[in-house]
Amino acid sequence: MKLNAVYSDLTKQKSGTLVISVFENRQYSNATVLLDKMSNGKIAQIIEQEDFTGKAGQNILLYNMEGLVAKRVLIMGCGAKKTFLGKNLASRVKQVLAILDKKGGHSVLFDFAVNFKNTHKMERACQQIAMTAIDRLYHSDHCKSKPQSASKIKMLKVWIPAEFKKAAQNALNIGKIIAEGKSFTKKLADLPGNICTPSYLAEQAVSLAKTSPKLKTQILDEAEMKTLGMDSLLSVSRGSRQEAKLIIMRYQGASIDDQPIVLVGKGLTFDAGGISIKPSPKMDEMKYDMCGGASVFGVIQNCIKMNLPLNVIGVVPSSENLPDGDANKPGDIVTSMSGQTIEILNTDAEGRLILCDALTYVERFKPKYVIDIATLTGACIVALGDKASALMSNRRKLVKKIQKASKQSGDRVWELPLWDDYDKQLKSNFADMANIGGPGAGSITAGCFLARYTKKYAWAHLDIAGTAWQGGVNKGATARPVELLTTFLQQQVK
Ligand code: BES
Ligand code: MN
Ligand code: ZN
Repeated sequence: MKLNAVYSDLTKQKSGTLVISVFENRQYSNATVLLDKMSNGKIAQIIEQEDFTGKAGQNILLYNMEGLVAKRVLIMGCGAKKTFLGKNLASRVKQVLAILDKKGGHSVLFDFAVNFKNTHKMERACQQIAMTAIDRLYHSDHCKSKPQSASKIKMLKVWIPAEFKKAAQNALNIGKIIAEGKSFTKKLADLPGNICTPSYLAEQAVSLAKTSPKLKTQILDEAEMKTLGMDSLLSVSRGSRQEAKLIIMRYQGASIDDQPIVLVGKGLTFDAGGISIKPSPKMDEMKYDMCGGASVFGVIQNCIKMNLPLNVIGVVPSSENLPDGDANKPGDIVTSMSGQTIEILNTDAEGRLILCDALTYVERFKPKYVIDIATLTGACIVALGDKASALMSNRRKLVKKIQKASKQSGDRVWELPLWDDYDKQLKSNFADMANIGGPGAGSITAGCFLARYTKKYAWAHLDIAGTAWQGGVNKGATARPVELLTTFLQQQVK
């Protein structure tokens, strides 16, 4: 789908459909005013007959209006003008495209971005329009024998005053890139465990590096990890016939001595729990235990396409967690790369076991920030549901920065505390720490565990157990927090 910012005479627009907006209490947008005038008040007349007040979702489709080249005019109710950008814009774009996919037509012109006087809001609107339109094209049909039917809409235009045109086009391009990054993340996440294995993820990293000279990929196999002393990570993989991989993607968009931002994503391609096996219902959803890793792939692709002038390193420790004669057993003690020993009281708390070694490994990059992203705890879903990802960090400044990106992108996070009193719950009688902290505050004790491996740099942890995918009839990956992280990175550009 092509996305263009245009400013030209509406009457001469060749788009199949012109979408014009009416806000609550019949407040017209510029385009609506214009077409109403041109038609000698016909639009106002129709709106009144139809008892159309501008409530969000109300719509009237008109054909063959005199004086217009375009075939159709779609009058869209957009709700309250003040909250349109944050609340209604995405739903209206989806609604319009759904209507047009039914009615036919290859191109559409929106005037949704035109009502914002300030450039920043206009840009956000354009980015949102592009993102929603491209997001909609994603179908998880990779494993269906026939692909789902594609949208017929090939061109989307946003009508924008001349002085905004350049900024608008840029925002449309960025929205498209982010949505494509999200689609990449969703694809990897939705693929089943028998296809999306650690080796498959490693191959994806190799292919991604072929798209840009700025990306270098390195894959560590089990022998190399053994040499590095990653016995905690390797202990998780022992019960699996798939070889574990440590995937490292280095994007260099700035000078070599610029400190990198490191993203570490949990890439557990299937989590059966190991010997502490999970119950059967919904166990299929544990193919999503690599969503943190998948989000790192999406973000790195975004860095490449946006040509971000930053150094960003994506690290994805990838393994399966299965029961087997050689698998971790409750009570086993392993030595992590950091030298700290861990008593594995529950083999299902494996995410932290693979992350801790990856987090020690990234010390060598002398990172500016490290953010890990993981579907780490079921407790996170109890605490925050599917609305917010949990945020924990050892630096106030980094928390503030992530919260800022969260506010801007609408990709929500909520901070949990990493107090010493919680850390004490990790006490083990036999090793430096246990891998679980008892029944209370499960997301926080998991965070405290990781905090013991991240003392040497500024670090934040995002638990995305509740936000990374949805279950039920609409089962599928959400690609959260790709938008949050991409926005965060954009904001770190000076
Ligand atoms: N991958 C799971 C966490 C998870 C569970 C995410 C359900 C999304 C939905 C993780 O490896 C796990 O099993 N965690 C355990 C930790 C517990 C044993 C301390 C959990 O949350 O039950
Ligand atoms: Mn688990
Ligand atoms: Zn897991």
